[in-house]
Amino acid sequence: MHWNFGDNPENLATELAHAVANDLRAALRSRDAATLALSGGNTPKQFMQCLSLQKLDWDKVTVTLVDERWVPPDHPRANAGLLRKHLLREEAAHAHFVPLYVEAPTPEDGLAQVRARIDTLALPLDVVVLGMGDDGHTASFFPGGDQLRNALDPKTPERVVSMRAPHAGEPRITLTLPLLVGARARYLLLTGDSKRNVLLDAMKGGDYPISAVLEAAPELQTYWCP
Ligand code: 6PG
Repeated sequence: MHWNFGDNPENLATELAHAVANDLRAALRSRDAATLALSGGNTPKQFMQCLSLQKLDWDKVTVTLVDERWVPPDHPRANAGLLRKHLLREEAAHAHFVPLYVEAPTPEDGLAQVRARIDTLALPLDVVVLGMGDDGHTASFFPGGDQLRNALDPKTPERVVSMRAPHAGEPRITLTLPLLVGARARYLLLTGDSKRNVLLDAMKGGDYPISAVLEAAPELQTYWCP
């Protein structure tokens, strides 16, 4: 794993937005489509806003989510709404968005439809940006998750699974480890000492969901600031 340090959240967001934009431009020099998968939560808001200002062929970029809470897109907890508000505007308004939520009572009910959606993406993903919680979860790989073993299995044939876990809040839907670490460029964005200490512990062998990502993607680029 490689550290990229920022002085503050704004500087970090700008640095990561430039790196991701350059990855997308490089992808579009080689292929006529690029695919980007972003995490939700609070940390990536500034990054998304910076990325939305980057000039590139956004109409050739498909954006999806690393994971989603199983709530309608207009729900305040929906990552889809976060992405529409902070990324799909300015230059990036022309990107194509593939949401993970479908009109179904549960993620288990909607899973087949979501799988079909993910199967339409140009794979491997070009860029993935992960976040991390204080419990060492990433994506919706929450400790105690009912599908955690399957989601973290490097050989799972699944590209997307449902997830229910004690501290996940709503039922979730999440891309799986192989799909995420199989991306051409992999980033982890986190801030603060608490999360850094969890990541350092994971790097030293601590057992967290993020540990599986560190093991499967040793070239992960981590962006961190105090
Ligand atoms: C989500 C995210 C999740 C997030 C971490 C960190 O849906 O919540 O995908 O994996 O990256 O929970 O979230 P914060 O940035 O809000 O701390």
